[in-house]
Amino acid sequence: MEKLIRVAVIGCGGRGMYSYAPYVKQFENAEITAVAEPIAERREFFAETYHLKPENCFETAEEFFAQPKMAEVVFICTQDRQHYAHTIAALKKGYDILLEKPVSNLPENCIDIANTAKRLGRKVMVCHVLRYTPFYQKIKEAIQNGEIGQVMSLHQFEDVGWGHYAHSFVRGLWRNSDETSPMILAKCCHDMDIILWLIGSDCQKVSSFGTLSHFVPENAPIEGDRCTKECPKYDSCPYCADKVYHNPKWAWAQQAVVLNPNEEKLQKALSENKYGRCVYRCDNNVVDHQIVNLQFEGGVTASLTMCAFTNEMTREIKIMGTRGEIIGNMEENTVTIKRFGEEPEVIDIRTIATDLSGHGGGENKMVRDLFAMVRGTDNGAALTSIDKSIQSHIMAFASERSRVEGGRVVELEEIYKEHTQII
Ligand SMILES: NC(=O)c1ccc[n+]([C@@H]2O[C@H](COP(=O)([O-])OP(=O)(O)OC[C@H]3O[C@@H](n4cnc5c(N)ncnc54)[C@H](O)[C@@H]3O)[C@@H](O)[C@H]2O)c1
Repeated sequence: MEKLIRVAVIGCGGRGMYSYAPYVKQFENAEITAVAEPIAERREFFAETYHLKPENCFETAEEFFAQPKMAEVVFICTQDRQHYAHTIAALKKGYDILLEKPVSNLPENCIDIANTAKRLGRKVMVCHVLRYTPFYQKIKEAIQNGEIGQVMSLHQFEDVGWGHYAHSFVRGLWRNSDETSPMILAKCCHDMDIILWLIGSDCQKVSSFGTLSHFVPENAPIEGDRCTKECPKYDSCPYCADKVYHNPKWAWAQQAVVLNPNEEKLQKALSENKYGRCVYRCDNNVVDHQIVNLQFEGGVTASLTMCAFTNEMTREIKIMGTRGEIIGNMEENTVTIKRFGEEPEVIDIRTIATDLSGHGGGENKMVRDLFAMVRGTDNGAALTSIDKSIQSHIMAFASERSRVEGGRVVELEEIYKEHTQII
């Protein structure tokens, strides 16, 4: 019988509570045994859900890491800027780690985590779930099988979705890069990672443009900063909080507004907390649209378009090779292979994968790989690890530098040279 893997969850917000922890139950020889979370209501709800002993529930990560080692793996699901300290503490204590993205908001911290993990012989899996989705796996397989010849160019679209953007990047947790991370890292490190994985060679340089144009005070209809029924634009503004959180498309966001929501709790929260603010009067500064051009080894080019103003929350991709194209739409769950001179082949991902829940079916597969990695039975085949994530993070840091500097071409080498080398 396989050895039991005990898991401690650090940070029980959206990700710690609802994303990876529930998958642990699917595995016979894995169990959640500890938690660290400062918000009592969240910690208690989590402890009740997973039948945790009171002595295994801690108010903070710091308190948890001060104890003797009490699990094999920690899931680090705290906020972006806390990842570094919590990950280094976990590594020093001897834990293997499932680390939420982004690895850190600073390149030097990303590199230090990779170096420390290597030095201490610990395993760190970064939650780049897209690599595990049947959608992107099908695309990767088609490229590897030479279906479109040699890849020359790739376009990726990160369609954030208007309601999602308003919730997370105007009113919510990732609205201000001074507190969290720039948009291109917070949201698009996933896209950078998938572009890098699909192209399969090193990224050399990038340039980028992008601004925060719409969600600014100049567009506010009223003086006050709350979104209320008294606002003259209440009926016509799509970003009205009441409407966003009652739209079935964005209903998942209610959990971030208030724990275990019902109508009464939701209305009260929206009248008091940050999610009930006017979208034009928030303390947000992250861009609402950005493009990045990337050049890879061998002259392969790629572009990424991130935009708030999309109807769907999805990703689209087009890959152009010497013998054909691949076009994919995650929302529609289709991958179309157009081999030159032949009829297009349309693949419906739903016919090859049944479970597309949790990031298009990626989350449960990633947890499976994590446990194999921890047990040492993955034979180095895990699709995402700290080593594999460093370059995609550096691509995001370089893109942000370029954007801030008006689109200057930034070589990745420039950023690597500024920091300690990877061991
Ligand atoms: N993989 C993905 O696709 C994906 C999607 C969304 C978010 N994320 C990332 O996951 C991370 C968590 O996001 P979230 O939405 O769950 O955020 P969240 O703010 O809802 O959750 C973070 C939790 O950490 C707790 N916390 C704060 N200080 C702590 C401490 N010292 N010790 C222990 N817990 C502490 C907070 O109280 C909160 O409950 C972020 O870094 C985010 O960027 C990843």
